[in-house]
Amino acid sequence: MLRSNPFFGHMSLRNCRFRLFSSVLPRGPTRSGTSVTFSTAQRVFPIETIEVPGLLYSRNTNHVAQVSTILGDAGILKLSLLFPDPKSDYLSQLVLGLHNNHNHHLPITHSGLRGAFWDVRPAVSNFQGGTYQARSETMKNFPWHTDCCYEEYPPRYFALHVLQHDRHGGGALSVMSVNKILDHLSPKAINALSRPEFKIMVPQEFMKNPTKRWIFGSILTPHHPNKGISIRFRRDLISAVTTRASQALAELDLLLQDATVQSSSSLRLSAQDLPRGSVIVIDNRKWLHARNQIKDQERHLRRVRWDAVPLGNEGT
Ligand SMILES: [Fe+2]
Repeated sequence: MLRSNPFFGHMSLRNCRFRLFSSVLPRGPTRSGTSVTFSTAQRVFPIETIEVPGLLYSRNTNHVAQVSTILGDAGILKLSLLFPDPKSDYLSQLVLGLHNNHNHHLPITHSGLRGAFWDVRPAVSNFQGGTYQARSETMKNFPWHTDCCYEEYPPRYFALHVLQHDRHGGGALSVMSVNKILDHLSPKAINALSRPEFKIMVPQEFMKNPTKRWIFGSILTPHHPNKGISIRFRRDLISAVTTRASQALAELDLLLQDATVQSSSSLRLSAQDLPRGSVIVIDNRKWLHARNQIKDQERHLRRVRWDAVPLGNEGT
């Protein structure tokens, strides 16, 4: 049986029905919290982990509420799917559940040509953005950044569903806490980065409006008592338009390359930490992310981004 929705297209409910009739609907997922081994990184930031036994959990209000709570608290969460899900039906239903019950906005489209899902995997032709190859479609490393920093309404959350991890030791995802970075930034730099004195280019592959090739904005939002400080960042797209902005950007650049800062502020998630069947959900304004070089041509993640609101308007 197929069900259609405007963001994910046709979704199969076959697994869903099978599980409904083949087993008793479980009362709630296991929240292990410490079941994942992150080697040295685990000591820096434990990442909450939920084991998801079946597709039906995506429609379980307790489960969706649990995801929402962890995202609100930590801004990062891992889900281990204990069932095959080649079409990412669990993830699409989860995002719809967050929209229906927890005020998240629906997913954004990735470009003028693509829908809500984007396949992150090496490609040499048939690029998802049309003529232009996205960075995510290469095997190159991808330095610290947030997704869609060039959008007026950048998505607050994104999730990656690991359909095939890198089996040759590459493609590790790293995440860095914005709160930890701020501990190392001078007040002067924080102030300058919070002013709309930066030009941010829109990558060709994600250009939705050919007449809108860049935006002007700030890197940080001014501190809010409930929301803290949010960030947007992708260095290769950003240039400073004032002297104070340039100086602050240089300070941030140095910080992101500092080994001491990295060791106290970031986690490196290898293929062992995020094997096939994992889903990692990240607050795109509280965590920077990066990846190292991909070594496995078959590495394949599926991404969705949602809850796009202006930076600093995340709600209370
Ligand atoms: Fe990214």
